[in-house]
Amino acid sequence: MCGIVGYLGNGNVYDILIKGLHRLEYRGYDSAGIALVNPQGALGIYKTKGKVDNLEAYCVGKDLTAGVGIAHTRWATHGEPSDTNAHPHYSEDGEIAVVHNGTIENYKVLKDALVKHGCKFHSETDTEVLVQLIEYIRLNTGCDLVTAVRKAMKKIVGAYAIAVVRKGDPDTLIAARQSSPLVIGIGDGETFLASDATPFVEYTKEAVYLKDGEVAVIRRGEPLKITNLDNKTAEVDVHTLEMSISELEKGGYPHFILKEIFQQPGTLRDCIRGRVINNGDTIAVSGIIDNKEKFLKARRIVIVACGTSWHAGLIGKYLIQDMCHIPVDVEYASEFRYSNPVLTSDDVVIAISQSGETADTLAAVKIARDMGAFVFGISNAVGSSIPRETDAGCYIHVGPEIGVASTKAFTGQVMVLTLVAMAIAQLRHTLTQEQLSNLGHAILQIPDAVEKVLKLAPMLERLSLTFTYAHNFLYLGRGYSYPVALEGALKLKEISYIHAEGYPAAEMKHGPIALIDQEMPSVIVAPKDHLYEKIVSNVQQVKARGGRILAIVTKGDKTIRNLADHVVEVPPMPECLSPIITSIPLQLLSYYIAVNKGKDVDMPRNLAKSVTVE
Ligand code: M6R
Repeated sequence: MCGIVGYLGNGNVYDILIKGLHRLEYRGYDSAGIALVNPQGALGIYKTKGKVDNLEAYCVGKDLTAGVGIAHTRWATHGEPSDTNAHPHYSEDGEIAVVHNGTIENYKVLKDALVKHGCKFHSETDTEVLVQLIEYIRLNTGCDLVTAVRKAMKKIVGAYAIAVVRKGDPDTLIAARQSSPLVIGIGDGETFLASDATPFVEYTKEAVYLKDGEVAVIRRGEPLKITNLDNKTAEVDVHTLEMSISELEKGGYPHFILKEIFQQPGTLRDCIRGRVINNGDTIAVSGIIDNKEKFLKARRIVIVACGTSWHAGLIGKYLIQDMCHIPVDVEYASEFRYSNPVLTSDDVVIAISQSGETADTLAAVKIARDMGAFVFGISNAVGSSIPRETDAGCYIHVGPEIGVASTKAFTGQVMVLTLVAMAIAQLRHTLTQEQLSNLGHAILQIPDAVEKVLKLAPMLERLSLTFTYAHNFLYLGRGYSYPVALEGALKLKEISYIHAEGYPAAEMKHGPIALIDQEMPSVIVAPKDHLYEKIVSNVQQVKARGGRILAIVTKGDKTIRNLADHVVEVPPMPECLSPIITSIPLQLLSYYIAVNKGKDVDMPRNLAKSVTVE
């Protein structure tokens, strides 16, 4: 949801910023832009609609020398994607330039006031209001730029991560944050800032995560200075990054999403490592062990998340209810936050977010904590906001996920939820040791089973040709396979732009069955589980209406093989572990259909990986 990069140092400012923008492009790709202050102090701003490649083409032949610079890749919120609405935005007098990630909720009131004072606006963005406000304060109070930034921030309602440069000053870079992520990389005589650490991981491993309400002043030759909005000095807390550069490259795959699908045996191993111990007999989830009294007394668990993470949360409900006998509610974070939630200190809230930055999920976390609930986060991005705002939590450890459509993060989330459920069951003795050990042993086999499923890729590629030109799909499943159906439908929608509906298979006869004909394939997730006979009936119901069926079944299944047009066989798995296995053919199917249709599978239209606005 917009990515920002900044750099001050003796390196090639333009090259570093452009490379950084490419790394952050997953956050939005409606437009891109760059502001450079050259050593003589001239401020050059270059921006254009479309992806970073367009910006690079636009910059050919321009003066790109600089001592400091800021850059932006946009996911449009206020104002359509256009050259004018692209960042950086600049003050009317051309003195300062700003890039911004977030939304300014009171921008209309501020804009009206500035217009009354004679300010003229060129774009439709909230960001232009911010830059004009900073400059208005600077000019009218005679304060320096940092003070003007602090004063402006106090007037703003909303979320922001900003970077600011000024004409005539190639030696200063200012940054501030409230609710949108910003991390500063401290190198040798050079300083970076970015929405996440990926733009600078090859230059430095030292990172400082800016906190809400903090302003950073980066000056050439001086140590990083951080203050709050009242100019009180804050601690510079340096973390060591564990990310490696190879994690940010395609590694020979044509697309990041395909790499990420194929990484899953390894990511699941990383996710399990150290948590399934004693040969599978013991589950060790430190966030649960360290807070065991909270989980022992929990009367209810509420899971909050968005998108794919919400689908993982639905599987979490089945897992926790089955294993721990604790009632679980699963809420879209965006609905939860406005639903007057009722929580007590006996409730545990589990917030799931790959990015750890999703605005709605973060807001839900804050509400839950304010209400006294114990909040447990499940995230991928180390150091992101949700892990920092929760009482305890667990990383999924699947490495950076660059493809906008989530794949390895989903299976990582489901795996962690399985371990969380087992760890709680271990504490509350709701599973016997034998049951726990059986599951623990089965979990250790999952990475190998996933490897087997990935060998089906050529078959799914062939099958995808049969389905590429369908306009609508129905995805059906029951029990643990119902959220898998939802996730399969979401994957297809977001990367191939084909309409797909995920449905509980038995609900189909209450309406969607009317849609079934030769033209609309049904993808039915039907592993051998306790609902198998029921879903066989649902398969028959689709068949009886002339529907075409692609079924995901357990190896050796004969009944559905005789009914369905196509079957994909996956290895047998205990029921509660089946989603990790059955979701993988659906990821591959969506991928190949989208590729057949020539879609941009890593950066689907209108989407952004990290949704840091409401
Ligand atoms: O980073 P989060 O897990 O909080 O993101 C939530 C959703 O935005 C995300 O899962 C989205 O639905 C994906 N594009 C799905 O592939």
